[in-house]
Amino acid sequence: MACATAFGDAFEMERVNARAREIVAKMTLREKVNEMTLATGTLADLKRQFDAGACGHVISALSLADRRAIQEYVIENSRLRIPTTFQADVIHGYRVIAPIPLASACSWDDALIEEAESAAAQEACWFGETLTYAPMVDIADDPRWGRVMETSGEDPYLSGRLAAARVRGFQGRTAADLASNRHILACGKHFLGYASSYGGVDCRMRDFSKREVYETFLVPYRWMIDAGLASVMCSYTGYDATYSTFSPGLRDFLRNELKFDGVYMTDWDTFAHAYRAGVSSSPAESARRAICEGGIGLSMFNAGFTNLIEFVRRGEVKEELIDREAVRSIAMKIRAGLFEDPFGRGDPTKTNGCDAAVLATVRRLAGESIVLLKNDGVLPLSLTNKVWVCGPYADERAEVLGQWAQSGRPEDTVTVREGMERAWGYGEIGWSGDTCKLEWGADTVVYAFGEPRGWSGEGPARGSLELPRDQLDELKRLKATGRKVVAVVFAGRPVLLGEVLANCDAVIYARVPGTTCGDAVADIVSGKVNPSAKLSQTIPRAVGQVPLTYRKRRQWIGFGYVDIPNDPEFPFGFGLSYTTFAYSKPRVVTPSPKAGEAVRVEVDVTNTGAREGREVVQVYVRDEKASVLTRERELKEYASVTLKPGERRTVSFNLTDEAFALYDVNCIRTVEPGDFTVFIGPDSSTTNSVTVHMKDIGRGASRAGH
Ligand code: BGC
Repeated sequence: MACATAFGDAFEMERVNARAREIVAKMTLREKVNEMTLATGTLADLKRQFDAGACGHVISALSLADRRAIQEYVIENSRLRIPTTFQADVIHGYRVIAPIPLASACSWDDALIEEAESAAAQEACWFGETLTYAPMVDIADDPRWGRVMETSGEDPYLSGRLAAARVRGFQGRTAADLASNRHILACGKHFLGYASSYGGVDCRMRDFSKREVYETFLVPYRWMIDAGLASVMCSYTGYDATYSTFSPGLRDFLRNELKFDGVYMTDWDTFAHAYRAGVSSSPAESARRAICEGGIGLSMFNAGFTNLIEFVRRGEVKEELIDREAVRSIAMKIRAGLFEDPFGRGDPTKTNGCDAAVLATVRRLAGESIVLLKNDGVLPLSLTNKVWVCGPYADERAEVLGQWAQSGRPEDTVTVREGMERAWGYGEIGWSGDTCKLEWGADTVVYAFGEPRGWSGEGPARGSLELPRDQLDELKRLKATGRKVVAVVFAGRPVLLGEVLANCDAVIYARVPGTTCGDAVADIVSGKVNPSAKLSQTIPRAVGQVPLTYRKRRQWIGFGYVDIPNDPEFPFGFGLSYTTFAYSKPRVVTPSPKAGEAVRVEVDVTNTGAREGREVVQVYVRDEKASVLTRERELKEYASVTLKPGERRTVSFNLTDEAFALYDVNCIRTVEPGDFTVFIGPDSSTTNSVTVHMKDIGRGASRAGH
C-alpha cells in the first residue's frame, strides 16, 4: 500500500528538514513564534497581526489580489523573507462543489476520489490557497451528528483507504507535485474521536477507550500518514478527561505511535474554548499547556502563542520546543514550494467561472456517489416517458451544495429540473416549483425532496431522523395519483426511509451532490449512468437503533428491541444497479500460507443482467475464536469490477496478516491462530463465505499495519 509520496521518501524528508533547521537557526524567538500563529481578517487586519508577530499562516476569505498583497507584505517585511500559507476548508470541492464526503465515499472508487481531490486542489491553487483542512476522518456511527456529512462514514478501513486517496489528490504523489502550483497541503482531522458524542450533539463529548483508539480511530491516520499527510488538526473535544489541545495522550499517539512529524494544529480558537471549559485560566496558560503538554505547534486562529516569548524569557518553556515547531512549519512551507514561488498559486484567469474539466470529474464522481436504494423496475426512465419534476429540491441551487461550500456559487448549480430537461430535451419535461399539478399528463413523477441544508454540518444535530412531514405527505399524494413515483432524497446523513419506500417505485439517495446535481441525477434517472454506489453508512429503520454500525462486537445472547425492528433499513455497503450480479462461493487459493505470505481468496462475479455495470466486491472477516471480544465482521478489502452482460470475472484478494490481526488485551497487534470466516459479497450482510484457518506459524506481534 505504501507508495513513493511527497513525504514518503525519507531522503527527501531529511533534505527538507535540514533546510528548515538551517532557516530556523537564523530566526529570532519572535520570528519562530510567529510560525506558530494563524491570522484571520481583512488585508489591514492581517498586516496588523504580522506587525505584532502573529501571522505565520493565514485563514481568510480574501480576494486573490489581497492574498497577493499580504504575501508581498509578509515577505518584504520579514527579515528572512519567509512566506505565509493560505489555509481553507476545501472539504468537497472549491469553486465546483463535489458531493459531500459521506456521499463520495459511496463510490468506493479510490482513483476517482483522488482525481476529484486533485481537481479541487488545482482550483484552490487558482484562488491562491496553500492548505486544506481535509480529509476529515472521524468515524461516525451516529447519524444524528451533523458533521457525519463530512466523514466517509462508519468504517475505518473504507475511511482510511479513501482518506489516503484524498491526500494523494490534494498533495499529489511526489514532492515535486506538492511543490507545484497545482497541489495543496492536506490536514487530517479531528484528532481524535471527535465523533464520539452523546446523542449526536456536536462537542457533547462521550469518553472512548484506548482500544477504540487503536481499533478504529487511528486507522485512517495510518493510511493518511503513509500517503504523506502534511498536517493534523486536533479535535474540539478531549481524551481521557484531558482537553485535546493539552493532551499528552493524544500527542503520544500522534508522535510515538503514528510517528507523525508534520504540523499539529489546534481547531478554531481552542485556547479561548479551554478557558470556557474551565481547563485554563488564561490564553497564556492555554499556550503554555498546548505546546508543553499537548505538543501543539500551530494555533488556529489567535495570537495566544505569542505569550510563549515571555515564558521562554522566564525559563518556563524551553526554546527547543519552539524551535521544533518552527522547523515543522518552515518544512511545510518548503514542501509546498513557497520559498521558490510564493506567488505561483493564484491565477486570475481561472477564478471567474467553473473549469470544464473539473466539472466533468465532479459529475462523474456525483454519478458514482448516488445510491439506488429501491427500484421496482421503473428506472431507468426512457426518453419517451412523460416526466413531471417537482418537490422542494427540484429547482434548488444553494441547498444542494451543503454547508462547506463557501467558495461555491449557487448560480453555477445545475438543478434537477435543468438536468432532466437537458437529458430529455426541452419540452419533454413538465415542471412545477411549489405545487405538483399533474394536468400536463405525466406518466412518471420525479419528486426531489429532503432535509434542509442547515440540518447537517458543523453544529446542528438531529433528534429525529424523519424527513419533513409535509414532504412525506406530498409524496403520498403523488403516489395516490397512480403515476410512477421516483423519490430523489437529499440529506446530509442517513435518514429514515420507511414511509418513502412505501410510497414510491424507486428511491435514489442523492444526498448533497454539489454543483453538478441536476446532471448527475438525470444521468442516473435516464440510465446514462448505471448506479454503482454502495452505502458508506448503515441506514437505520428507527432512530432508537442509533448509534449503529455493522461492526458491532459479537453478541452472545439474542436480546433485541421489542418495539422496533432489529435489522437496519439498508446495511453498510448496500446499493442497487440496473443490472444484477451473481457471486460464486469464495475459494481459498493458498490454504497454508507461510509466515508473511498473504492468504489469497477469490470469487467469480457474473453480470446476470442486461446492462454493463460496475460492482464493488466487498471482503469482510470474522475472527471466530479470540482472546478478546471481536466484532461480527470487519471490512478488510474491496475491489471494483465492470462487467458486460453475461460476463464473468474472477476477483482475487491477497489478505495479509492485517486482515486477520486483532489488538490483544495490551493493545498489541497480533494474529491469533484459529478459524476466520471470510465473507465476499455485495454488502455487509452477505452470508457468502469461506473459512480460512490460520495456523500458528509465528506471525509476530506488530502494530505497524492498518
Ligand atoms: C471546524 C474545523 C474547521 C475549522 C476552520 C472549525 O470550527 O471544527 O473542522 O476546519 O473550523 O473552518
